[in-house]
Amino acid sequence: MRKIQFLLLATAVAMAMTAMAQQLPVYLDDNAPIEQRVEDALSRMTLDEKIAVIHAQSKFSSPGVKRLGLPDFWTDDGPHGVRPDVLWDEWEQAGQTNDSCVAFPALTCLAASWNPDLARLFGRSLGEEARYRGKDMILGPGVNINRNPLNGRNFEYMGEDPLLAARMVVPYVQGLQSTGTAACVKHFCLNNDEEYRHQVNVIVSDRALREIYLPAFEAAVKEGHTWGIMGSYNLYKDQYCCQNQYTLGQILKGDWQYDGVVVSDWGGAHDTEMAVKNGLDMEFGSWTDGLAWGASNAYDAYYMAQPYKQLIQEGKLSTRELDDKVRRVLRLFFRTTMSNNRARGFLCSEAHYDAALEIAQQGIVLLQNKRSILPIDVDKARRVLVVGENAIKMMTVGGGSSSLKVQHEILPLDGIKARLAGTGIQVDYARGYVGDTTGEYNGVVAKQSLVDNRPAASLIAEAVDKARGADYVIIFGGLNKSDYQDAEGHDRRHMGMPYGQDELVEALARVNKNVVFVNISGDAVAMPWRDKVAAILQGWFVGSEAGKAFASILLGDANPSGKLPFTWPVSLDDLGAHALGTYPGTWRDGHKIIDEEYKEGIYVGYRWTDKQGKRPMFAFGHGLSYTTFKLTNLRIDKQQVAPDGSITATVTVKNTGNRAGAEVVQLYVSDLSGNVDMPVKELRGFSKVTLQPGQSQDVTITIGPRAFQYWDEQQSRWTTSHGKRTLLVGTASDNLPLKASFTVL
Ligand code: BGC
Repeated sequence: MRKIQFLLLATAVAMAMTAMAQQLPVYLDDNAPIEQRVEDALSRMTLDEKIAVIHAQSKFSSPGVKRLGLPDFWTDDGPHGVRPDVLWDEWEQAGQTNDSCVAFPALTCLAASWNPDLARLFGRSLGEEARYRGKDMILGPGVNINRNPLNGRNFEYMGEDPLLAARMVVPYVQGLQSTGTAACVKHFCLNNDEEYRHQVNVIVSDRALREIYLPAFEAAVKEGHTWGIMGSYNLYKDQYCCQNQYTLGQILKGDWQYDGVVVSDWGGAHDTEMAVKNGLDMEFGSWTDGLAWGASNAYDAYYMAQPYKQLIQEGKLSTRELDDKVRRVLRLFFRTTMSNNRARGFLCSEAHYDAALEIAQQGIVLLQNKRSILPIDVDKARRVLVVGENAIKMMTVGGGSSSLKVQHEILPLDGIKARLAGTGIQVDYARGYVGDTTGEYNGVVAKQSLVDNRPAASLIAEAVDKARGADYVIIFGGLNKSDYQDAEGHDRRHMGMPYGQDELVEALARVNKNVVFVNISGDAVAMPWRDKVAAILQGWFVGSEAGKAFASILLGDANPSGKLPFTWPVSLDDLGAHALGTYPGTWRDGHKIIDEEYKEGIYVGYRWTDKQGKRPMFAFGHGLSYTTFKLTNLRIDKQQVAPDGSITATVTVKNTGNRAGAEVVQLYVSDLSGNVDMPVKELRGFSKVTLQPGQSQDVTITIGPRAFQYWDEQQSRWTTSHGKRTLLVGTASDNLPLKASFTVL
C-alpha cells in the first residue's frame, strides 16, 4: 500500500514538473533553439533593459537583466592568463585571494610552436581558469600582424604571417569557447603599433587589408565562430575602428556574416550615432566627453547609454539598430552565462601547468647553435655561470592589460639550479646589468628586490671574472615588460638592447667561447655580437613555468622545435615599414591625427625581404633542433587543379639524428602566372611532426582554393590567379629544398 502511495506521489510530482517545464518561457528552455530564445527574451525587455545590456556597469562587466533571470556578464583580460580582479570602478586590485592564476606563454611563443593542437589546449586551459574565476569572456586572443618590430604589443600577437596566425587562432578560440567562455578576438583591425594607437589613421591598400591584416580575423569568425570581436583604438579611412562602417558594417557583419558581438576596446567609442550605426554592440571603458578623466561610475553617460536612449526617445534614431545589438548580446548570454553546457572551472590545476610548460618547450626557438654547444653536456660540465637580470626577474607582472598575478613563476636561475641539483655541477650567478628593478602593475607587486646600485663597469667585471673557466656562460637578457619595451601604450624607440647589454655580451664572449644568449622578448632585437656567441635561444615570455622550460631546453630534456613566427631583421631598414619611412606617420589636424600609410602594401616580413633580395638575421620559420631531419620524395596528387579545388602535397620526413624531436614541414607557393604583382613566395600550409631517432613519416598538406587567389581591388573580391605555380617545401622560409610544379586551371 505504501509503495502504491509513493508511486502515485512520484507520478504527481513528475506531472507537475512537466507542466512547470511546459510553462517555462522559451528563453529559459535550454533545449529551445538559440534564435527562438533570443527573440523571446528580446520581446520581454524594456527600452531601459535593452540600453543597459549594451554598455558596461563596471570596469569589466556589463549588466544582465535581473528581472528575467539573465545574469551580469563578466569579461577579463586576456590573453595569457586570467587577469586579477580590480575594484568595481577603479584599476586598483580588489585584493582577492582566489585570483592567482597560471600564466601561459605569450602568444608569440604559442605561434612559434606552429602547433595548432597546442593552441587548442591553450584556449581550453585558459577557459577552465576563466570558468573558475567566473569570467564569461576573455579579452583575447590578439592577431594583429607584426608589421613593425618596434610595436610594444607584438608579444601579445601571433607573428607576421596571415596563414600562421589564422591556423593558430581558430583552435585557440574553439578550445576557449568549448568551456562556455567567449573569446574576444582583438584588435580589429590594423592596430599595428602602440605609440599613437588613439590617433593613428591607417592608410592601406584593399589588397593588403584583405590578404595580410584580415585573414586571421576572418578565420576566427568563419571557422572559429568566435562569439566576440574587439574593435581597435586606431582609425581607418578616418573613422575609429570601434565605430567603423567599412570594417565592422561592411566586412565583419556584411561580408563575413558575423553573428557575435563587437566589443569596444576600453575607451574606443567616440560618438553615439557612429557607434550605433556602424556596428558597435557593447561599449566598455569610456570616459565620455564632458566628463573629467576618471569621473567615477560614469557608465550612464556612455555613448551607448543615456545619450543613445535620448536619441531614440527624440525619434532621431530608431530601435532597429538597438534590437540588432541586443539580439547579439542575448546570443552571447545563451552561449555563455545562460548555457547549461559549460565546463567546470579549475584554477592552477596540474594540467594547466603542464600545458603552459609544453607550449613553452615547443615555442622556444633555437636560433643558433655553433659546434652543437647545446644541450649542456652534464657529463663534462663542472661549472655553469648564469648571467643577467632576466634570469631573476618576474616577467608576468607588467606590460599592460595582459599583466597577471600568478600563483607561481619559476625564474630561469631557479629552474636551472633545480635541474642541476645533485649532478655535481656548480651553478654560479652574476647580475651583469641592472635594468628595471620596479616590478609593479596595477597594484600587483613582484615581491622581489632587484635593486643593485653597483656601477655597470663593476657588474660587467664581476661577470667576466666568474665567466673565466666556466664551462658554459648562459646570459638571460633582452627586454622586459616596462614602458617602451614589450608593453602596451608605447613602442620601442629602436631595436637595440637596453641597459648596456651589448657591452656585457661582448666582454663575456672575449673570455669564454661557450656563451649562450637566451633572449627574452616578444620581438626581434639587434644582436651586433651574434657571431661572437656560440648559441642563441629566443625565449619569449613563457609564463609560470619559465625556469623549468628553459632548464629542460638547455639540458636537452626537451628538444627545441619552435620556429620564428616573424622575420628577424638585422636592422629596421630591412623591413618595408621602416625602409619606406612610413612609421610613425604624418601629423595633421593640429596634431590630432597621424596618417600612417602602409606603403609596402602586401610586402610585410619575409614578403618584403624576399622581394628586396635581403637576408635577414634569422628568417621567418627558422628554428634549429638537437637532432637533424631530412625531407625527401615530395609528391603532389595532381599537376592541374581547378580554381575551386585543392592540391595535396606529401613529403617523407626522417629523423636522421639520435634524439627524438619535432620538425615543422613548411609549404610555400610561388605564383608564376604573371597575372598580378605577387610575392616571391607565400606560406600556404604547414604541419608539425614528432619523430623518434631513425623514424620516417609521410606528412601530407592540402591547400586551396584560397591559396590560389588574390584580392582583386577592381572587382572587390577574391579572384583566382590562373596559371603556373611552384610549390616549395622545407623547414624554414630560407630552407626550401623540395620543389614541384602545378597549374591552376
Ligand atoms: C587594451 C585591450 C584590453 C583592454 C581591457 C585596452 O587598453 O588595448 O587589449 O583588453 O584595455 O583591459
